[in-house]
Amino acid sequence: MTQHLTDSLQTPTGTQPGGWWRDAVIYQVYPRSFADSNGDGMGDLEGIRSRLPYLKELGVDAVWLSPFYASPQADAGYDVADYRAIDPMFGTLHDADAVIREAHRLGLRIIVDLVPNHCSDQHEWFKQALREGPGTPLRERFHFRPGRGADGELPPNDWESIFGGPAWTRVADGEWYLHLFAPEQPDFNWEHPAVQDEFRSILRFWLDLGTDGFRIDVAHGLVKAPGLPDLGRDEQLKLLGNQVLPFFDQDGVHEIYRSWRKILDEYDGDRIGVAEAWTPSADRTALYLRPDELHQAFNFHYLGTGWDAAALRAAIDDSLDAMRPVGAPTTWVLSNHDVVRHRTRFGGDLGRARAAALLMLALPGSAYVYQGEELGLPEVVDLPDEVRQDPSFFKENGQDGLRDGCRVPIPWSGTEAPYGFGPGGSWLPQPEAWAELSVEAQTGREGSTLELYREALRIRREHPALGAGDAVEWLAAPEGVLAFRRGDFVCTANTTTEPVAFAAPGVPLLASGEQAEPGVLPGDTTVWWQVTSG
Ligand code: NOJ
Repeated sequence: MTQHLTDSLQTPTGTQPGGWWRDAVIYQVYPRSFADSNGDGMGDLEGIRSRLPYLKELGVDAVWLSPFYASPQADAGYDVADYRAIDPMFGTLHDADAVIREAHRLGLRIIVDLVPNHCSDQHEWFKQALREGPGTPLRERFHFRPGRGADGELPPNDWESIFGGPAWTRVADGEWYLHLFAPEQPDFNWEHPAVQDEFRSILRFWLDLGTDGFRIDVAHGLVKAPGLPDLGRDEQLKLLGNQVLPFFDQDGVHEIYRSWRKILDEYDGDRIGVAEAWTPSADRTALYLRPDELHQAFNFHYLGTGWDAAALRAAIDDSLDAMRPVGAPTTWVLSNHDVVRHRTRFGGDLGRARAAALLMLALPGSAYVYQGEELGLPEVVDLPDEVRQDPSFFKENGQDGLRDGCRVPIPWSGTEAPYGFGPGGSWLPQPEAWAELSVEAQTGREGSTLELYREALRIRREHPALGAGDAVEWLAAPEGVLAFRRGDFVCTANTTTEPVAFAAPGVPLLASGEQAEPGVLPGDTTVWWQVTSG
C-alpha cells in the first residue's frame, strides 16, 4: 500500500485515537458542483484539491466525495462503467491521488463513494453479458430472466424502479434485466462469487491508494429475496424505508459487510464504511453497525424530521437508543445531494436553517455537512426543465424528480455567475442572489452563516462534551423548546417562531441568531451555553 499517505496523516485534533470517525464532522463534496479547474462548467478533482484548504479552515475532519469514476453519467456518476478509473470530466487517477495526498497533508480524511448495488450498462461485464446472450455465464452476474406472458412480453416480476416505471428492461434477445434505479443501472447479482470477489478487489484498490473509507451506496439493496417474489401491489415507493422488501434490507446483506470489515481492518489508519441504508427502523439500521460490520450509517430518520421540538426529541432519542447496543456512533444529517436543501425544507428562513445546524452539531456522534449548507444556500426551485439532468425527473412517479435543485454549483467569489466556481460557466445556472452568499462575501463578515459554521466547528473541536458520548440529558423546557445538557455544555433550541422565556443556563458560547436579551430565547434560534456552576 502507499505508506506515504498514511504516514503523513495527522490525527485531527479533538478526536480519540483509533476512533476519529466517532465524532467526526464529514463534509460531502459533490464533485461536479464543487469547483471547476478547467472551465468546462463541471467541477473536477483538481478543483477539489485546490479548495481543500477551505475545508481545513472550515474545520471539518473528513471529506466524502460522491462518485468520480468513469461513467456515462446517466445518474450523475452513480452508474459506474469502471470502478478503478476516473471519468475524464473529473480528471485522472493521478488527480485522485493528489487529492488524497493533499487532504492527508492537511490532516483531512477522504471517504470515497462505492456503488456496489448496480453498475452502468456501459460496464464491460454488462456489455459482454448482452453480447453473449441468454444462458451464458456473464449473464449470471446480473439478474437476467425471461419475461412472463405468452411471449415473455411482461416483466419477470412486479418490482418498480425507484426512479419510476418497472424495475426491468427487455433486451433485444427477449430476456429482461433488473435495475432498481435507471435502466442504465443494471443490478449486480450478489449471489455470484465473481461479483463478491470483484468488490473485495475494488475495496483494496482504493484502500491501497490511501482512502480512509467508503460511503456505500444503496447498502441495503445488494441481496434480493430468493426467487425474486412479487410484491403484490403498486406504489411501492411508499413502502421504501417502512418495511423489509424483497429487494431492500434483506438479512443476507450483513454477510457482505462482515467480509468487507475484515478487509478494512487489515489496513492501518482506521478505515471506515458508512452505510447508505434505508431501513424500516433505527434498530434495523443498527444491524449494519454491529462491531464486525460497518462503522456508521446515515440517519435518514433525523433528516426526515421537521423543525419541531417534540418530533426532534423523539428522533434524537430513538437514534441514540438504537445505536447504543451496538456501540456505534449516531450520525446526524440535514442535507445531501438527493434531498431538498434543509433551508428550503424548513420553510426558507435562513435563521431556522442556522438554528437547525447548531442543534445538529451539538449532538453526540458524527455529523454530515453537505457542500453549500455552510453558506446557507437554499434549494434552487426554478430550474428550467431543459437544464435538468436527474433521471427521476424524466420518469412518471419518480422518486421526487427534483434532485437537481440541491446540486447547483456553489458560489465561491465575485458578483456574477459562475461566482468563482471555475473559469467557464456552470452546468446548472446559479441564482443571482448567490453573489451575497459566496464564500468570499461571507468570509470575515460578522454573523455570516459561514462564520457561524466555522465558529461552531472550532468550539466543537475544543469542547470535549460536544460530539463525544452516546447520550444527552434532557432539561425541562417550555413547549417548542429543546434543551439538553452534556457535561458543562448546554444546548437550547427554540423551534417556535416566537421568543420564549428561559432562564440562561450559563454563559452563551454561540448563538445561531441575534443574541438574546437575558432570560429570553428568540424564535427559531439555537444557543450553546457553557455552564459555569452547578
Ligand atoms: C443513492 C444516491 O445517493 C443517489 O444519488 C443515486 O441516484 C442512487 N443511490 C442510486 O445509485
